[in-house]
Amino acid sequence: MTLDLRPVEVTEAESFVRLVYQAFGSVPDDYSLARACERFEPDFAIGVYDRGRIVATAGAYPLEMTLPAAPGQTLPTTPVPGVTAVGVAPTHRRQGLLTRMMNHQLADLRDRGYPFATLLASESIIYGRFGYGWASSYRSLLIESDRDAFAPEVPADAGRMRLVEPDEAGKLLPLVHDRARHQQPGELNRNARWWANHLKDPEKERDGAEARLYAAHESSGGEADGWVSYRYDKLNWPEGIPRHEVVIDDLVATDAAVAAALWRFVLDLDLVEEVKAPNRPVDEPLRWMLADPRRLRTTEVADHLWVRILDVPAALAARGYPADERLVIDVTSADASVAGRFVLESGPQSGACRAAKRGEKAQLVLGLADLGAIYLGGLSPSTLAAAGRVNEVAPGALAAADRVFASPVAPFCTLHF
Ligand SMILES: CC(C)(COP(=O)(O)OP(=O)(O)OC[C@H]1O[C@@H](n2cnc3c(N)ncnc32)[C@H](O)[C@@H]1OP(=O)(O)O)[C@@H](O)C(=O)NCCC(=O)NCCS
Repeated sequence: MTLDLRPVEVTEAESFVRLVYQAFGSVPDDYSLARACERFEPDFAIGVYDRGRIVATAGAYPLEMTLPAAPGQTLPTTPVPGVTAVGVAPTHRRQGLLTRMMNHQLADLRDRGYPFATLLASESIIYGRFGYGWASSYRSLLIESDRDAFAPEVPADAGRMRLVEPDEAGKLLPLVHDRARHQQPGELNRNARWWANHLKDPEKERDGAEARLYAAHESSGGEADGWVSYRYDKLNWPEGIPRHEVVIDDLVATDAAVAAALWRFVLDLDLVEEVKAPNRPVDEPLRWMLADPRRLRTTEVADHLWVRILDVPAALAARGYPADERLVIDVTSADASVAGRFVLESGPQSGACRAAKRGEKAQLVLGLADLGAIYLGGLSPSTLAAAGRVNEVAPGALAAADRVFASPVAPFCTLHF
């Protein structure tokens, strides 16, 4: 049988969305279908068709990511496709359709000039074979409200908190996020369509919890510089005792003191037994604000962003580096369009990277997925070497690579796409 891979037309958005839902084991109702169709990106959507019926899908959002740099430098940003909506009908699995779509999509994204692509994986076994590496992680936190006092060393807040209705949140939060995301390696932009969808907060997507609340922080001068959004989950009054749970959705700040004020606000909410923060950076400083630090519990650490380098010189030139070094690396991949030997000269705001000339010997050998994994600074080359995945050819190269690829701030992304 012939299975055709081709772009998906705007008029086919509904069948595209239905297939994605089916691949994940559900069926969209009219509301979810309409919402998902609003997010459909015709420029990037591809499908595989069996006798005219769609049986596999993949897409991408055009996004912008903040990249690491040396301390004190403005962080660079780069356009990046956020790969999404990957699904194959259960009737057509393990016949190579994902492989076909990935090969097609990666070539297309490279032709469009993107230095790398990123995605969130439903299972961590799927994308390594296509050259994606686990590049950023998140940490889920839980703290009991009666054990959340701050240590005396934490300075008092110079600003103030203010509750914000969703209408105002729609104006204020995007501005604050746009400032904050430029300080966070790995963070992605949120466009106007994303905000409009997010602020609708429909009851059917709350899983029984209360509506989302927004509290903004203002500096002493009255400028909004952070916010926390949260909801009371499953209101719970056993024997008349309030034992509610608060789940933090976003806690976004333009500096560390504002983040501390937002934590203080959300930890001080009344009627609450536990506060949960499912999506926080691995270097979240909250523990060091607490008088009783062990009581902050990590309930999960897992992968978030996966990175697939499409063009090694362009990707390595795009980020900045905390150490100035010259490194010659062999990047191995079955994809001949990206593999090769490269010379990186790292600089604080960007790198210079080119194909190696004859006679320039490799100091380090690593696979393409592993280059993606260290690219945002969330994992050191030494850790991968200890796992047998990076090979040091020239003594000292591994330590130099550790210095070069580090990021002073762990990569972290709040966007689910
Ligand atoms: C994941 C999914 C897209 C894979 O599609 P597929 O067309 O079956 O994949 P392929 O046939 O191209 O498989 C390529 C290889 O990956 C392996 N593979 C693919 N999905 C896998 C999975 N979920 N678990 C284990 N191995 C998997 C295949 O066994 C095959 O290995 P091989 O080359 O050694 O034979 C499909 O199973 C699916 O739609 N799953 C549910 C939705 C989902 O998780 N989507 C991904 C969103 S991030």
